Amino acid sequence: MTKLIEVQHITKEFPGVTALDDISFDLNEGEVHVLVGENGAGKSTLMKILSGVYTPTGGNIIIDGNSYSHLNPTLSQELGISIIYQELSVINELSIAENLFIGRLPTKQVVGVPVVDWKFINGKAAEMLKMVGLKKNPSTVVEELSISEKQLVEIAKALVMETRILIMDEPTSSLTPEEIQRLFKIIRNLRSKGVGIIYISHKLDEINQIGDRVTVLKDGGLVGSKKLSEVQSKEEIVVMMVGRELKDKYFSTRQSSEDREDEIIFEARNISTPDQKVKDVSFKLHKHEILGFAGLMGAGRTELMNAIFGAGKKESGSIYLNGEEVQINDTYDAVKKGLALLTENRRETGFFHNFEIFKNVSAVENLKHSKLKGATGLINTNSEKQMAEQQKEALAIKCTSIFQNITELSGGNQQKVIIGKWLCANAEVILFDEPTRGIDVGSKSEIYKIMRQLVDDGKGVIMVSSELPELLSVCDRILVFRKGEISARLTSAEATEEKIILAAT
Ligand SMILES: Nc1ncnc2c1ncn2[C@@H]1O[C@H](COP(=O)(O)OP(=O)(O)OP(=O)(O)O)[C@@H](O)[C@H]1O
Ligand SMILES: [Mg+2]
Repeated sequence: MTKLIEVQHITKEFPGVTALDDISFDLNEGEVHVLVGENGAGKSTLMKILSGVYTPTGGNIIIDGNSYSHLNPTLSQELGISIIYQELSVINELSIAENLFIGRLPTKQVVGVPVVDWKFINGKAAEMLKMVGLKKNPSTVVEELSISEKQLVEIAKALVMETRILIMDEPTSSLTPEEIQRLFKIIRNLRSKGVGIIYISHKLDEINQIGDRVTVLKDGGLVGSKKLSEVQSKEEIVVMMVGRELKDKYFSTRQSSEDREDEIIFEARNISTPDQKVKDVSFKLHKHEILGFAGLMGAGRTELMNAIFGAGKKESGSIYLNGEEVQINDTYDAVKKGLALLTENRRETGFFHNFEIFKNVSAVENLKHSKLKGATGLINTNSEKQMAEQQKEALAIKCTSIFQNITELSGGNQQKVIIGKWLCANAEVILFDEPTRGIDVGSKSEIYKIMRQLVDDGKGVIMVSSELPELLSVCDRILVFRKGEISARLTSAEATEEKIILAAT
């Protein structure tokens, strides 16, 4: 077996944090090596050392018999390393084709002058899009794409180059099951050609479908490596990751139905959006209830949440809070009236880049108490800090302090900060759109526990999720969405994976 890459005793220090501590790791030709670990374990940092973005504090990287103390992005590319970053790096303002070739636009000679070879670029881009299953014209501007489509562009971008070592940092976090299967086909095909793949995921169910070997990191240290053929169960990996067994105790207890007696705290009537992604949708949410929205990606659930929250256009429909109709024209109205929305695309719409954690956590609460839609208003820094400390504790946010800049946190910990922001906004009804995307297994159950606590305290919780096991174990009632309409309404007693899939397709 030929080793494509070997890292020896790699250490990486950031101010106040040892992100990696004496890590050794290797990748063979034609191997899928899965890398797992809790949020902040050091996975992305290790990958960024291989893509040349970070310089390690100590250790070596061996490629083709040469030893390097560090790489840089150009060298890494020349050595045949491609990376799909966890935080999508596509540029919204450019076309798909431009994104695929950014920084390396192929040229041709026209009367002795090099000009960009658009014919080649568009042809190659079309081929790549077909491969990843994205039915779009290469000239489409990326801004117009949904989050899952952007993720496909990110994947296509890594495939354009001749790659020997392909790094995928959570490539499937917002893909549909169908898209995931297509990606696995691409991975198997690359593997058969000898490409080595490092695959990072929090979806533990998918790793034994695709991986040959798994390595677990914890708090920057190496826990161990195993052949996946020798791993008996998912729980074995969870124990390595978390250091203990997890028991899911947050099964819904209430067998609710829409005509239950509990007071209705929220109601949406006849909601439609101008693009007809949501068609005349009505539903009620009771006090003490977690209501789930199931459905395929693209079914219109996010559009419904956005329309309710004033973040997207509503063509018709009305919204009632505690029995009274409320006018919500924009997100500011929504926040003032007591709604909260945790968006699915958190990296773009979820946080204030380059701000400290505590500023991010308190942002909504501050907005609520300020005048002129946030243009003025007193900010009480002490209570801000208190709120942030509370959320840091509750969600186990891994950071050096609440004064750390959010951009320095690991992907999953950034998500937790945004969840914390909405939790302390003290909203009556909270809409969670894919709340556990990118979150590690241990923290997931913490988030479920918090949701249950919220409804026990009399709030209403709506959860959109593409993960059926999560919906089934957390929600009291599940509405299934199909093509902009509710196709089934199930109580937790009635709901099964089969019934939901049937109603969703
Ligand atoms: N640029 C940076 N400056 C300071 N600290 C950083 C920086 N990048 C990462 N860290 C810290 O290094 C640690 C490891 O982060 P990393 O992003 O590698 O985690 P991860 O395993 O990828 O987690 P996740 O599953 O949440 O993506 C974290 O404590 C993080 O806060
Ligand atoms: Mg990461």
